[in-house]
Order: sequence, then C-alpha cells, then structure tokens
Amino acid sequence: MRWFFILSGVLACAGQPVSSPCPIQMSPPSVVVRFGDSFSVNCSSSSDQIESMGLETMYGSEKTTGLSYVNITIESVRAWMMGPICYINRVVDGQCLETLPVTVYKTPDRVSISQPSLDGPLVEGHQYSIQCDIVNVAPVSNLSVHWHKGDTISSTERFDGSSASPVNVTSVFDLTAQRGDDGTQIWCEAQLDFWGPVPDLTTTKSESRDVIVLYSPTFIEPKNVTLELPARGKFTLDCAAAGKPTPVYSWQFPHSIQQTNQNENQSSLAPSIQLPGTYRCTASNNQGSKDKYFTVTEATRNRTTFAALVGGFVFLGAVIFIGGLFLLTPEGTFSFGKGSYL
Ligand SMILES: *[C@@H]1O[C@H](CO)[C@@H](O)[C@H](O)[C@H]1NC(C)=O
Ligand SMILES: *[C@@H]1O[C@H](CO)[C@@H](O)[C@H](O)[C@H]1NC(C)=O
Ligand SMILES: *[C@@H]1O[C@H](CO)[C@@H](O)[C@H](O)[C@H]1NC(C)=O
Ligand SMILES: *[C@@H]1O[C@H](CO)[C@@H](O)[C@H](O)[C@H]1NC(C)=O
Ligand SMILES: *[C@@H]1O[C@H](CO)[C@@H](O)[C@H](O)[C@H]1NC(C)=O
Ligand SMILES: *[C@@H]1O[C@H](CO)[C@@H](O)[C@H](O)[C@H]1NC(C)=O
Repeated sequence: MRWFFILSGVLACAGQPVSSPCPIQMSPPSVVVRFGDSFSVNCSSSSDQIESMGLETMYGSEKTTGLSYVNITIESVRAWMMGPICYINRVVDGQCLETLPVTVYKTPDRVSISQPSLDGPLVEGHQYSIQCDIVNVAPVSNLSVHWHKGDTISSTERFDGSSASPVNVTSVFDLTAQRGDDGTQIWCEAQLDFWGPVPDLTTTKSESRDVIVLYSPTFIEPKNVTLELPARGKFTLDCAAAGKPTPVYSWQFPHSIQQTNQNENQSSLAPSIQLPGTYRCTASNNQGSKDKYFTVTEATRNRTTFAALVGGFVFLGAVIFIGGLFLLTPEGTFSFGKGSYL
C-alpha cells in the first residue's frame, strides 16, 4: 500500500509538466527566415486567468496587459540563433513560457565544381573524384548537394553539423567514367530543405563541365559476318565502330588478292575485285583495337548452275551411250550402212 502511494506520487510529479502545458499558441508555430529578412509572430493564449503576457526577442520585446494575445514584427533578422520567447503571467498558476523555433538560412555565396582531372579527357573505367565547394551556407544540417550528370541526378549528399551560422562545405563525387558519359555535362547544385514550403527559396548551381571520355573501339554490329558472293553487283563489308578518339580502320584481304592501300581507313569496304575468302577489319584508336572477320563464300546459285551443267553432260553421255547400243550389231560392228559400206 505504501509503495502504491509512493509510485503514484512519483507518477503525478513526473506527469505534472505534461498534463498542464503552457496554454500558448504561436502563429506561425515555427519560422524559416532568410538572414536579413523580416517576420512577424502572434502569440495568443486560451487561459482565462491572464494577468499579462509578452514576447521577448533579442531585438526588443512587447508586453500586453488584459489581452489574450501579443504580437511582434522583427524587421531584419541579424542573428543565426534566435528563439523568441512568449510568456504568460497567470493569476493562480504563475508564469509559463514557450520558445518559437526560428531557422535562419542563407543561400551560398558561391557553388563551384573544381577538379583538375576534368580539364582533360577522362578514360573509360577509371575513377575520378570531382569536388563541389559551397561557400557560406546556413544551416548546414538542412543542406543537400545534388550531382547532376546529363539529365539525371547521380548522387545526393547531405551534411551533419549543428552550426547555425554559415559554413563552407565540400562534396566529393566519385565518377567511374563510362562511354555513355561522353558528351554529357556535370554540375552540382546546393539546396536547402525545410519541412514546409519557403517562398523565394532557390537552389544554387555550379557551372557545368563538359565530360569527354576516351574509350576503345566497339563495332556497331559486333558479330563476325558470313556472306555469299553475289552473282551480280558488289558486296559491301560494314565495319563501323564507335570509339573515342574516332577509330582508324585497316583491312586485310584474302591471300589471293593483291590489294593496294586505297581502302585503308574506311569503315565500310566495297572491294574492286570481288573474290571469296576471309577479310579482316581492324578498328583502332589510342585506347585499343578490335578485329572483325568477314567470310565471303561462293554463292550457292553458282554451285547449282555448275550442278546443272554437270547433270546436263551426264544426261547427254547417257543418251549417246543408249543410242550407241541400238546402232551396234551383235557382231560388234556398226549395223548402219553395213551393206553399202561393204
Ligand atoms: C493574434 O491572434 C489573436 C488570437 O488568435 C487574434 O485575435 C489577433 O487578431 C491576432 N493578431 C494579429 C496581429 O494577427
Ligand atoms: C500587433 O497587432 C495589433 C493589432 O493588429 C497592431 O495594432 C500592432 O501594431 C501589432 N504590433 C506589432 C508590434 O506588430
Ligand atoms: C569560407 O570560405 C571563404 C572564401 O572561400 C572564406 O572567406 C570564409 O572565411 C570561409 N568561411 C568559413 C566559415 O570558413
Ligand atoms: C532541417 O533539417 C533537419 C534535419 O537535418 C530537420 O530535422 C529540420 O526539421 C529541418 N528544418 C526545417 C525548418 O525544416
Ligand atoms: C570472330 O572470329 C574471330 C576469328 O575466328 C574470333 O577470334 C572472334 O572471337 C570472333 N568474334 C565474334 C564476335 O564472334
Ligand atoms: C581516318 O578517317 C577518319 C574519318 O574519316 C579521319 O578523321 C582520320 O584522320 C583518318 N585517319 C588516318 C590515319 O588517316
């Protein structure tokens, strides 16, 4: 029984501040304001025993007697930390107070992307650390930095820190260069994020950098090709490859062909002498080289013509042979014209 009273007493004491909060409403309930701008706050109370109430700020105070509200306008915020306090003095319960949460912000003076290695071309597969410097921003805990690559946001960094006054921060983006990055642009963007919408709050962008990525040649059509020698017209071999720098092409012809260098450095080839065999194309640049093989075979139509020709000869031979049988006599001599010959 004694424990119960002690326990309930403890609970009653612990519950005291929660069960009777200070009956104050502030409008707005919190403020996000740009350094140097103005804001107003109206503090009102639902208590029916107000003696007086007031608002205290580092820029001055307001006090009212016999009214259920007090308001104040701060013309220009000149401090990074400021918690205006609203208090009421009540007849029975005495004084209580509330602090208005105020976030003072400042957009960066400068956001710049700095990376020596971005001055030259990047090489596919290599990793680069690109740096974004953000100067004079507050508060750092509400800052996020977005890294844009082409049309997408590749990475976002948020920052820890309790400083309410402006700081300089650096975000580092590790980029593994890919051929798809070639020709895109990279930039970083500093943004302050707050719960509610903040009028006229803009993001700050760095200048953008052109990305050039060197990569070894890759054929547009990577498969080796087998084709038949056409009966009429010419065949063309397509060896087009993507690469940076632009690939240079060289061709190797079947051994049976003596070829001059006229077809060097062409992505597609229509040989002046059309012969079967294996043609090899090499596409190369300073990042590497790749081979593609073209096997040109005799056309099957040529073979059928040949077969028809052979068949024709066989048939003719058979006809001559059978005809011969009829014309021969059992004695083994030609029957035709036998009598007249003798
Ligand atoms: C402050 O709030 C009270 C109570 O809601 C209201 O009567 C009063 O007009 C408000 N004053 C200002 C300046 O907004
Ligand atoms: C507070 O609100 C009252 C009523 O709207 C107005 O007369 C008074 O000027 C305001 N005071 C401040 C300091 O804004
Ligand atoms: C931030 O950098 C600027 C110049 O880049 C410098 O003038 C300023 O003092 C720095 N601020 C802090 C908080 O370090
Ligand atoms: C600022 O960011 C913190 C988290 O870092 C968040 O809790 C806080 O609500 C933000 N401030 C505002 C005014 O939105
Ligand atoms: C093309 O043929 C060459 C030689 O036969 C071979 O080494 C290569 O792997 C082939 N390439 C493809 C894509 O099939
Ligand atoms: C090869 O051809 C390309 C495109 O026509 C050209 O830019 C390049 O200079 C040529 N290279 C050589 C070595 O002839």
